[in-house]
Amino acid sequence: MEHITVIGLGNMGSTIARLLLRSGYRVTVWNRSRAKAEALVQEGAVFAPDVAAAIAASPLVIVCVHDYRATEAIFAAPGAVAALDGRTLVQLTTGSPQEARDSETWARAVGAAYLDGAIQAAPGQMGQPDTPLLVSGARSAFDRAEPALKVLAGNVMYLGEAIGAAGAMDLATLSYIYGAVLGFIHGARVAEAEGLNVDAYGQIVADISPSFGQFLKYEGHAIHTGDFASKESPLSISVEATRRLLDTARAAGINSEFPALAAGLLKRADEAGYGKEELAALIKVLRGDGVGKVQ
Ligand SMILES: NC(=O)c1ccc[n+]([C@@H]2O[C@H](COP(=O)([O-])OP(=O)(O)OC[C@H]3O[C@@H](n4cnc5c(N)ncnc54)[C@H](OP(=O)(O)O)[C@@H]3O)[C@@H](O)[C@H]2O)c1
Repeated sequence: MEHITVIGLGNMGSTIARLLLRSGYRVTVWNRSRAKAEALVQEGAVFAPDVAAAIAASPLVIVCVHDYRATEAIFAAPGAVAALDGRTLVQLTTGSPQEARDSETWARAVGAAYLDGAIQAAPGQMGQPDTPLLVSGARSAFDRAEPALKVLAGNVMYLGEAIGAAGAMDLATLSYIYGAVLGFIHGARVAEAEGLNVDAYGQIVADISPSFGQFLKYEGHAIHTGDFASKESPLSISVEATRRLLDTARAAGINSEFPALAAGLLKRADEAGYGKEELAALIKVLRGDGVGKVQ
């Protein structure tokens, strides 16, 4: 499939169009503000005069704009809906699982095949062999789009036909990242309150992150299988660790909101009798099982 259309030329959309151009695709582009297309046109892209012409130019249409409402505004242009009939639409705008479901329903009604993707990288990290991209939607549409998607992200993860999967997994990984960010920033306060070099702390975190990734994968497997017999890290160790974090923050007079949250949840798990189980048993508290229910 050598003709591709890219709609939306912000930081990410421009990167997508450029990567496709450089790998030999014939790229048609459209953006609300034409100025953002100038550099790409210099590099060989064709700027379509309107949205309908942009869609008509290629069997595969990639959209990457601010949000789904922007997408709706774009497809409200004259002739856009008619042009989508028979096209494969790949939505790479970040959105929720429900937005993906609504979009798929709408796309099917106008005769387009639909894929929903969640980009898990910044523009400067796109196009690498390990760049992650989550995709869900009809298998036949994915098979058609896969070669182009692999240009954008070497690590394309197809999550199946349930269209909300990419958006849902994006939320799950965001939760992981923001939990880690909160912990990291609190750790920076601990380090600076002790007069330590926060640069060195960042380096240590970078060094230990791959092995923590493996550890979390193990905990995820325990949740998946429901086997919480402790083989790696009994939950009681984390009860002590988070209590120590909280006590230390209070004694040092630094902000203690993050350790209070972590220590509170683990204390509930301990009180519910999960102390000797694997750390992953904390999920039973989040599910609302046992004593100390959390909604
Ligand atoms: N940048 C990242 O690091 C990153 C990482 C992962 C995922 N993403 C996702 O990629 C998507 C695009 O991000 P970006 O970084 O490219 O954003 P951006 O640089 O802010 O670009 C936003 C794009 O949306 C268009 N737009 C906004 N409102 C519009 C409207 N009402 N009608 C028509 N077009 C509209 C803009 O058009 P104009 O040029 O005319 O304003 C522009 O093309 C977002 O969903 C974002 O979450 C981004």
